[in-house]
Amino acid sequence: MIKLPENKIFNIIAEIADNENLQVFIIGGYVRDIIMHQTSKDVDIVVLGSGIELANKVSSQIKGKPKVTVFKRFGTAMFKYKNIEYEFVGARKESYSIDSRKPFVEEGTLAEDQNRRDFTVNAMAISLRKDNFGELTDPFGGLQDIKNKIIRTPLEPEITFSDDPLRMLRAVRFATKLNFEINADTFIAIHKNKERINIISKERITEELNKIIHSDKPSKGFKLLEETGLLEIIFPEMYALKGVETIKGQGHKDNFYHTIQVLDNIAEKTDNLWLRWAAVLHDIAKPKTKHFGKEGWTFHNHEFLGAKMVPEIFKKMRLPQNEKMNYVAKLVKLHLRPIALVQDVVTDSAVRRLLFEAGDDINDLMILSEADITSKNEDKIQKYISNYQLVREKLIEVEEKDKLRNWQPPITGEIIIETFNMPPSKNVGIIKEAIKEAILEGIIGNNYEEAYNFMVKEAEKLGFTVQNKQKE
Ligand code: CTP
Repeated sequence: MIKLPENKIFNIIAEIADNENLQVFIIGGYVRDIIMHQTSKDVDIVVLGSGIELANKVSSQIKGKPKVTVFKRFGTAMFKYKNIEYEFVGARKESYSIDSRKPFVEEGTLAEDQNRRDFTVNAMAISLRKDNFGELTDPFGGLQDIKNKIIRTPLEPEITFSDDPLRMLRAVRFATKLNFEINADTFIAIHKNKERINIISKERITEELNKIIHSDKPSKGFKLLEETGLLEIIFPEMYALKGVETIKGQGHKDNFYHTIQVLDNIAEKTDNLWLRWAAVLHDIAKPKTKHFGKEGWTFHNHEFLGAKMVPEIFKKMRLPQNEKMNYVAKLVKLHLRPIALVQDVVTDSAVRRLLFEAGDDINDLMILSEADITSKNEDKIQKYISNYQLVREKLIEVEEKDKLRNWQPPITGEIIIETFNMPPSKNVGIIKEAIKEAILEGIIGNNYEEAYNFMVKEAEKLGFTVQNKQKE
């Protein structure tokens, strides 16, 4: 018997199941999570009968009658109650693939339903009937697999994966999220069938990839993706980071392992999926910019080319083409800047320039840059960490003084045109740029008065004199 948490919905279902002599079970991830003492926001309920009817009956007995959403095609219905989603489905013989073009038809027994699920740990069911409330049905040894931390398909892996090839990726995702290992036969089947992932929509693949990136230790997932051969198919740009070339006895670091180490480092600091994506992509252009010359191995301008690659990759992966993408591209572009500051003498003007370019994303950029330190030399790491602290202090100091984060020029183009009575022209841009540079270099302060006086001098150099005095 499994002890279920106190839950009004479960009690209502038990009451209905009793009155109508129905067999009803909780199944899937919720059962797995209860056994693993984790909380879950989705409850999958399976009934030998109509899931839609049961959902309606349960909802009608709850105060406020939560709205039932019906997916007729799949024979499922769901409602949300107290922030938990309850999904109801009739037991079926069909697979659980949402890509399946076949609509739901055949009713099945509980055993048939369990047969068609992805992994043993996701195929356990708990009865909600009053007479055996909490009884576990575990035909494939899911409980044991949880104890042994194993991801394994309930049937022959070939059958389970051919029902829905996305499950190959789900195996990696669950192994990563739960910190389990993939059973050998299951693993071999993934390797063998990897090409079948190509029939799955990009959206579903990316959803799984995002879940891997969002886990506590994403490197585990990426190593598994690489070892199963899936990475090369679903993310060739990342696969290309792998490997070490040696010329004249000089090798460079393996950028794949470096990248996933950076990702782990960043995962300790932030839940922000997009900042984690910036870690994934920060060195993505290294293979394309790799060069061996007098200086040894170099990857010149990989940050700029990498930033340019971000939109292509986001488009291909059906990731959002919006400000999130621009944010990732910006961080990729700037990722070397803080470290450059750390290595040099930290001048005010260098800090000002960084603040100006990074704007509100400066803290995230610092997090990315710190995560990028993957040296094995402890002394070096300690030195960098204390230098980063210095840069952070300097950033705060300069920002307080100069307010450059979301910089707006104190002198606009209109003011220049009016003051000198000049036509809109290249000269306006030249003067504006000179003012910006003077502020960033610390020649003048970031305020109207100093910028105005500077503007007058700059305009004089170009042969303009003040025609209309500006009001203060
Ligand atoms: N399922 C399956 N094959 C799939 C997708 C889902 O067999 N391709 C079954 C599994 O039994 C799974 C359940 O449907 O447990 C619910 O799927 P889903 O919500 O995607 O996963 P959960 O196990 O609930 O895990 P999580 O909520 O962490 O994604």
